[in-house]
Amino acid sequence: MLKRGTLKLFHLLVFMQCVSSEGDFDWTKNERTPFYYSTFPAGFSWGVGSSAYQTEGAWNVDGKGMSIWDAFAHKTGKIPSNETGDSSCDGYYKVKDDVTLMKDMKLNHYRFSISWPRILPTGIKSEHINEKGIQYYNDLINQLLDNKITPVVTLYHWDLPQVLQEKHGGWQNASIINSFNDFANLCFERFGNRVKYWITFNNPWSIAVEGYETGEHAPGLKLRGSGAYRAAHHIIKAHAKVWHTYDLKWRSKQKGQIGISLTADWGEPVDISSQKDIEAADRYIQFYLGWFAAPLFSGDYPHVMKDYIGRKSGQQGLGASRLPVFSPQEKSYIKGTVDFLGLGHYTTRYITQKNFPSGLGDSYFADRDLAELVDPRWPDPGSEWLYSVPWGFRRLLNFVKAQYGNPMIYVTENGVSEKMLCTDLCDDWRMQFFKDYINEMLKAVKDGVNVKGYTAWSLLDSFEWDEGFSQRFGLFFVDFRNKNKPRYPKASVQFYKRIISSNGFPNPREVEGWKRKAVETCSSSNQLLAADPLIGHMEMVTEIVVPTVSTLCILLSAVFFMFLLRRRI
Ligand code: NOJ
Repeated sequence: MLKRGTLKLFHLLVFMQCVSSEGDFDWTKNERTPFYYSTFPAGFSWGVGSSAYQTEGAWNVDGKGMSIWDAFAHKTGKIPSNETGDSSCDGYYKVKDDVTLMKDMKLNHYRFSISWPRILPTGIKSEHINEKGIQYYNDLINQLLDNKITPVVTLYHWDLPQVLQEKHGGWQNASIINSFNDFANLCFERFGNRVKYWITFNNPWSIAVEGYETGEHAPGLKLRGSGAYRAAHHIIKAHAKVWHTYDLKWRSKQKGQIGISLTADWGEPVDISSQKDIEAADRYIQFYLGWFAAPLFSGDYPHVMKDYIGRKSGQQGLGASRLPVFSPQEKSYIKGTVDFLGLGHYTTRYITQKNFPSGLGDSYFADRDLAELVDPRWPDPGSEWLYSVPWGFRRLLNFVKAQYGNPMIYVTENGVSEKMLCTDLCDDWRMQFFKDYINEMLKAVKDGVNVKGYTAWSLLDSFEWDEGFSQRFGLFFVDFRNKNKPRYPKASVQFYKRIISSNGFPNPREVEGWKRKAVETCSSSNQLLAADPLIGHMEMVTEIVVPTVSTLCILLSAVFFMFLLRRRI
């Protein structure tokens, strides 16, 4: 008995040492406190986000090259109903309108991404620069600045030039590091006099796992157990290289900042008093966030990833770990390459220990030895993976503070979807989601987490990757049936506006009426939307029926006239 107790204590001490060597997050303390009325520090930045492939459309216009998402979505059977982002929200043609929407919301910043193949059609800078693509982003940036909205620019939100995938294997090949650096350098050169916030990669976890492990995302490869690790390795090196390029060549002139946007769910131990569950939850976070954050903040992959993947690779009879290794020079080159940490967060899972014996096939998921659970009482209004669990956000933010030395954080994504068929603009559940998640972020700020800004995802309903248009994340509803792609504000626009203008939640009396007032505005928008098919129908009448009938009339009159002439002769 005593022996087992001593062993357990030893185990606990070893574990605590491993975890606390990288920070001292207290897993056992999960306070769930009531709604917190207060405001954010002055200068807190409020924004919305989008990405190129999801919103721009114009996939083959003005010299744009093809991206891996164009190619992927064009293949039959990849996306529900074979939907594509070919035209999506037609954002390419609606810069003015969309910036006006943002201006009306009194946003401080707008996060968008640059489509690499729109400005470098083959991906390679020395081959061809598409000036029309550059012009498009210049217009967007200038419009934003004219309206006092700070552009926050993501360099890579998943739309790799197809040529780089086809010819070189995309993120599987180390040669991409230089190509990405050239592309980034061109962006700094052309836009850096006006853009001061750069994000190298959006959610590299997704690029690696969904693009190269499960194949649900472009380029759709299923290189299980190794593809994701290799892609991530090159992404981390590419990030570091671009950070150094900015630091050496541009920072002193342009005075901007450069970070990365990592997305992570929170993982809460099922049983907070079980050491095994705490270790499993820690692994969940390390394999998710730590995979990228640990190299950038500390120079190497998390210990637990090296241990688990190394051990499992050994059991599989491989000579080396499936997790690539950084050389000592690479470690010091990569360490410290974040001016700010962008954080995307949506949801939470309960985590427990589960052994995946080797021999069942390699995979990133099996490497972690854990199981994910959800509480069926958690609301899930839209995407099936997205349960609303606001307290997980505060936990994640505090984890980042403890583990990575309280870095400067910009929340680069947070929001909730509803199903495509839902045309109700009175999105009560989204207002509740924003209210609760932003409030947990406020509590985290009170805890001392260094959060500087928040980006609601997203401005518009848009192409939701492998879910096509079936999930709507927008603050603005987009009527995709109408070829003009009109935008209609959901109630959450008004609600978010109030949070922005109050810089938080000043007091119960004020906040109480926000939802009610927001709902008052959405019923009139609902009516407008309901009339939309009618408007669409009228457009069809004016644009197709009227010209066709007129042409026919002219033709018939001509024939009739000729007939009369003939008879006279
Ligand atoms: C993460 C991605 O960055 C974004 O493009 C996507 O729309 C949201 N998550 C919602 O799934």
